[in-house]
Amino acid sequence: MSRLIVVSNRVSVDKGRGAAGAQGGLAVAMNGALRQHGGIWFGWSGEEVEHFTGQLTMARSNGFTTATIDLEPQDVEEYYNGYANRTLWPLFHYRIDLAEYENEFGMGYERVNERFANSLIPLVEPDDLVWVQDYHFLPLGERLRAHGLKNRIGLFLHIPWPPTRLLVSLPFHERLVKAMLHYDVIGFQSFEWLESFLHYCRKELNAGVDEQKGTVELGGRTVVARAFPIGIDHKEFMALGETEVARRAQVRLVGSARSRTVVIGVDRLDYSKGLPERIDAMERLFATKDDMVNRLLYIQIAPPSREDVRSYQEIRATLEQKTGQFNGAHSDVDLVPIRYVNRGFGRAELFGFYRAAKIGLVTPIRDGMNLVAKEYVAAQDPEDPGVLILSRFAGAAEQLTDAVLVNPLNHDEVTRALWTAIHMPLEERKARWRALNAVVRDRDVISWAEDFIEALKG
Ligand code: ADP
Ligand code: F6P
Repeated sequence: MSRLIVVSNRVSVDKGRGAAGAQGGLAVAMNGALRQHGGIWFGWSGEEVEHFTGQLTMARSNGFTTATIDLEPQDVEEYYNGYANRTLWPLFHYRIDLAEYENEFGMGYERVNERFANSLIPLVEPDDLVWVQDYHFLPLGERLRAHGLKNRIGLFLHIPWPPTRLLVSLPFHERLVKAMLHYDVIGFQSFEWLESFLHYCRKELNAGVDEQKGTVELGGRTVVARAFPIGIDHKEFMALGETEVARRAQVRLVGSARSRTVVIGVDRLDYSKGLPERIDAMERLFATKDDMVNRLLYIQIAPPSREDVRSYQEIRATLEQKTGQFNGAHSDVDLVPIRYVNRGFGRAELFGFYRAAKIGLVTPIRDGMNLVAKEYVAAQDPEDPGVLILSRFAGAAEQLTDAVLVNPLNHDEVTRALWTAIHMPLEERKARWRALNAVVRDRDVISWAEDFIEALKG
């Protein structure tokens, strides 16, 4: 069996079941795939050094090796905070108004991709499969080819792919996408993102696109482009749900809700997640329906993210102001309607919180997939499941069609969905949940990784 070489910006090592390793789906998926195939997980250490040396730090655990490099402060500023998170992230989430096009960001991004290629090359053996993750490394395949690497190389994009009309606003967009065509396989979270990519290739690059086969041809190279919707590690998550930690978390939340219906949101504090819009929908619900303060409790768990980037500082300030204002207007002396919590929790605890909540509110403005929606479904009690309200703009909406689907920008629609969810009869809740859970259970992260690796083998 071929070894796997995974490349991602962050490298995380599974600390074992029940650990508070809340690094999300990517970490779980890669740990699983690497344990099975053996190989190397290569990425940034998260550390900064004054001068870049490219020196690798190698460690061994769980049947595979991790190899990390340190970056310079200028690299982190221009590549991670800059091009990745101030240029590509907003543009790819349709927030062209927030996208910053600075030359230094682009140069820093290319420099770091070249540094990654240089450090990675000596680690790769002829039969290895190289699997690159996400928007931090769109040109890495091309850099590796420039160093003579002949191996099969794949890219999976965890975030959306923007419509052509938005992407053409990016300086040097053609160069970036042409560089991507040096991969052998490019994977997207949903058919919508895949279609946008194929549209761009046809329209802007004049490439040969075969939608049936899912291939793009340019300059004598053929690249496979397909949708591979990521899932959660269902088995592992259900096992966490059996723990005392999960049970205690559930009991704690149900008890403190004092008979109110619990609505839960769990999101990194990111402007793509539609958090202020949720409060606007709540505002309408509380304004039009009597006595909501005695009937509903909304918990929003939102750990801070990318705190050096101004748009993230601003969304945090906006949310603090809006929740403060909302609670000021709607609280009673002994009841506060929104609990807004800025920190991470262990995954077992999260399971308990999801289970305690009768409504899962997942309303991003754009999201590649959204794993929280899938975790919420998995954590429900089959005999008395809660209702998932899901944005139609999340990749997950293509699969989770039995959720209550909403346009998160239409506050009235979200308000109505909340009202519908509060009153949904048990039989309907069960029927929807059974359909949703079948998708979440059967299309898990293990099968996702296997599907991608099969395609990568060619
Ligand atoms: P994104 O990758 O944009 O952050 P996803 O919803 O796809 O969005 O994945 C987020 C992951 O991070 C989920 O697995 C979720 O459980 C986890 N997560 C989010 N917030 C927290 C939190 N406060 N504590 C622990 N885990 C969290
Ligand atoms: O979903 C996209 C993603 O970049 C993941 O790869 C990552 O785990 C998550 O968002 C958090 O982002 P960051 O690594 O910038 O904190």
